[in-house]
Amino acid sequence: MSDKQAVSAKNDRDFINEQFVKACRFLESKSYESGEKALLELLEKVPGDLNVNLKLIECYINQGKYLDAFKVLSGILPEHGDTRAVLLVTPIVLFCLNDYDGAYKATLLLTEDERKDRQIQNIIQHSIMFVRFDEYSSLAEQDVIGLIEAKSISESDFFSIAQQLAGFKLGLKNKELNLNMNELVSDQLLLKLLSFSYIRSAALEDVITALRNKLLTFSLAEMELPDSLVELAQAVSMQSFNNEYVHYISEAEEEMLSELEEMLARLVESEEWSPFDVEGLFLLLCMYRRLYDLPFKDKLLEVEMAAWPESLKPLVKLTLYDVNEEVSWLEKVESIGTVDSDVSSAVQKQYEESPYPRWSQLYLPQAKSSYQEYMRNNIYGYEEPEQSKEDYDVLVAGCGTGFHPLSLAGSINGNITAIDLSKQSLAYALMSAEKQGISGVNFYQLDLLKVKDLKRDFDVVESVGVLHHMNDPEEGLKALLAVVRPGGYLRLGLYSEISRQQLVKLRELYVKSGMSPTAHNIRAVRQTMMNSQAAQDVFGVVNQFSDFYAMSPCRDLIFHAQEHRFTLPQIKKLLKKHKLKFLGFSGLKRTVVEAFVQTYDVDSLVNLDAWAEFEKANPNTFNCMYQFMTQVPD
Ligand SMILES: C[S@@+](CC[C@H](N)C(=O)[O-])C[C@H]1O[C@@H](n2cnc3c(N)ncnc32)[C@H](O)[C@@H]1O
Repeated sequence: MSDKQAVSAKNDRDFINEQFVKACRFLESKSYESGEKALLELLEKVPGDLNVNLKLIECYINQGKYLDAFKVLSGILPEHGDTRAVLLVTPIVLFCLNDYDGAYKATLLLTEDERKDRQIQNIIQHSIMFVRFDEYSSLAEQDVIGLIEAKSISESDFFSIAQQLAGFKLGLKNKELNLNMNELVSDQLLLKLLSFSYIRSAALEDVITALRNKLLTFSLAEMELPDSLVELAQAVSMQSFNNEYVHYISEAEEEMLSELEEMLARLVESEEWSPFDVEGLFLLLCMYRRLYDLPFKDKLLEVEMAAWPESLKPLVKLTLYDVNEEVSWLEKVESIGTVDSDVSSAVQKQYEESPYPRWSQLYLPQAKSSYQEYMRNNIYGYEEPEQSKEDYDVLVAGCGTGFHPLSLAGSINGNITAIDLSKQSLAYALMSAEKQGISGVNFYQLDLLKVKDLKRDFDVVESVGVLHHMNDPEEGLKALLAVVRPGGYLRLGLYSEISRQQLVKLRELYVKSGMSPTAHNIRAVRQTMMNSQAAQDVFGVVNQFSDFYAMSPCRDLIFHAQEHRFTLPQIKKLLKKHKLKFLGFSGLKRTVVEAFVQTYDVDSLVNLDAWAEFEKANPNTFNCMYQFMTQVPD
């Protein structure tokens, strides 16, 4: 290089350095447009310069120009893809573009220290639930366990990721099941997955059922549960409790369980017995049965909690004492009148045996509001009248286990009355009201066909998921309308024919079986459903229906004593016949409403013809049920 060339090169370098420093100052002072201009000028001179490109990415991100940031990143990836700075910025750019799967997977390429960075931690927490894994990742497992322990991930989000990872570990992908109990017993992810709530995957259910069988068979052959397997048996027992014992039990298992039960019964009836002597055998039984359902439950109830071994205490609490407490609430349920209709009796029997839904937590607003405001926030297309009163009298008809009226009681000002056919559901509701500290809801056991026996009327009647379980839903509608004050409101939830199409195919399998819906039969028919070739196409969809994976929700979903389904034209006709004004739907996903408004307009939110057309084009618009508000004439 000649002296002249060297001087010119130095001048160029100086210019580049100066320009870069200038651009950095612009960014520091948040003058992003000037910074962008300076960086783009620089890139004309040094197009491949890594630092300049990275600064430009930062500049674009700060301006919300995510696509531009992505374009710059794509340009430097081929040459600098392995560079730490590029690896670090990649998840940030992808996250900004809402590519959560890509963003999370990009964090897996970072070092342990880099992943501790606050921004990266934030990306991990908010993207992990959207990931579709192709293979097992121990880092992802650590992330999901960390998030669940820190309580920074919801139950359903935890499940979406934990089930995928557990599936790989259990060998679901390569169809060679890993039932190595010594390995699985220390598997924190699996243990948490089983204990936390019920699993929602047919494939995983198969493995857990096989694992349970192996634990039982192996331990009974030895006549003891080895200490090393206690934690696993505990987790499997918790899983059975969580799914309300819906998993299939083979005949061979039933035989072994009968023997086990008889053996424990003899022991418990004898005067001198200690739960410590038979800790393992009880744990085995807990994998299949609630302790409260055993014929010798009264003897077990005589044993104080302190006398049970540590490994059994959580199960004894949940499956013996808590159930006993729930039952004790039965006598506090006030009944009005009798149930005369056959269908009401069959439906009542179902919900006495399987109260639904079982729930533990309410999601309440910071402060209560008026019912009108509640409607404004929840009913799409609802227009508030100019005048309204503050405290409404509300009836919840078919209140089930109380989630619905207690949520209302914690959200609105007013007086709430709740009725249901099922005493067991009402006992659960009363007990939950006390646990949640919510007072003021009056619960009664009463067939809604006889709601007039309450001898009063209401500003609002809400009945969600109820009328379609009656012999004649219109008869139920008339009974409810008779207690709504003029100008008052009626909110209904009715099954959608279109969105339940796939479930109907499963229900047909049940109807064809001709079996009565006992727990034993539901387990057997469910197993046939899961194995049947005809149901394979349905299962893709059923996996969306987590209700399939626990007893009372599954019974409600597919094995119901009575089920009607509606189309929107039918609902329109029904509302017209009873002079009800349609005020709008609730319970829809925000994205669905946005898509609807884009296709039609805001005014059409109360147009049932438009919704019927929209649902036809988008069969998953309504999640199984239409939930909507109507108003009766003045
Ligand atoms: C699917 S559950 C819905 C519970 C509640 N509405 C909810 O959304 O969580 C249906 C409830 O309606 C009740 N039910 C059905 N027919 C009824 C009737 N004729 N009178 C009163 N309750 C009834 C059942 O006992 C059951 O608890």
